[in-house]
Amino acid sequence: MLAETLDLGTIPDFWTRRHLLGLQDLSAEEIKLVLDKADVFRKALDRRQTRVPLLNGRTCVTLFFENSTRTRTSFSLAARRLGADTVDFSASTSSLSKGETFIDTAKNIEAMGVDAVIVRHRTPGTPQLLAQNLRCAVINAGDGAHEHPTQGLLDIMTIRRRKGRIEGLTVALVGDIAHSRTARSNIWGLKKLGAHVIVCGPSTLVSPRWQELGVEYSYSLDAILDRVDVLNLLRIQFERQATRPFPSVREYAHLYAMDMQRMRKTKPDILILAPGPINRGVEITPDVADGPQSAILDQVTNGVAVRMAVLWLLLSQR
Ligand code: CP
Repeated sequence: MLAETLDLGTIPDFWTRRHLLGLQDLSAEEIKLVLDKADVFRKALDRRQTRVPLLNGRTCVTLFFENSTRTRTSFSLAARRLGADTVDFSASTSSLSKGETFIDTAKNIEAMGVDAVIVRHRTPGTPQLLAQNLRCAVINAGDGAHEHPTQGLLDIMTIRRRKGRIEGLTVALVGDIAHSRTARSNIWGLKKLGAHVIVCGPSTLVSPRWQELGVEYSYSLDAILDRVDVLNLLRIQFERQATRPFPSVREYAHLYAMDMQRMRKTKPDILILAPGPINRGVEITPDVADGPQSAILDQVTNGVAVRMAVLWLLLSQR
């Protein structure tokens, strides 16, 4: 489609960001701006009008040191739909294995004429390190257990589109809060837009110290079910855990898996989210994941729109 037919408007003066490193840094005004622009891109995607050449001539590199299905693919799609070129960097076949430093690798990639680096790394702070050393835009696609800002934005976008607002809603994040970058980005974004947030999980994965971020905590899913508007079911991140935080997966599922029995105790219009990948039968049963209250695949579609909005906001004026 022709870009002019999109009702994107102009980028307001308050948006001066060069990078997207986390939602902790963003104001409510900036978050709403990204969501508003993402809504415009989502409408274009719904019309199957996927060619929006607003970033012709720009080049984005995805620099992923951890596996990904949704984030990497949707960033690549978002960039291509905006007319940008995309390159996937493969860490395992790069010269990192020959002793080149991470910063040298990044600077060499930038020197090839790259406008944005989209980075995922197991070490928290890696995107900040790149932003200090590169002139191009840096976008955090997940850094350890720290932040996953575009996941937070797409979750909040999905809630706003389904519920019509964020302010005044009660949103529960359930599961492996301790190791979740998605939880942190959701908390920063949802709190700034006026939601009440509950973090819920076993005491080995949820601490009372989360209250310092202005959220409520609960060890019992059953105790909060009747007062939540949105449940975001987070994956148990076994790969980040030094020791198993509960006796067995079956024990965890018994206490925290969202199943049809628990669905009967919720508000009738409860919204079920999961950032993915989902482990069916652990944090959610298949009948709930595929049921009418679930917006899990809608989240994925919104992810493309959010990433188009982020790329456009960061790159169109550079
Ligand atoms: N939700 C999410 O970040 O998924 P991927 O790990 O597949 O990118």
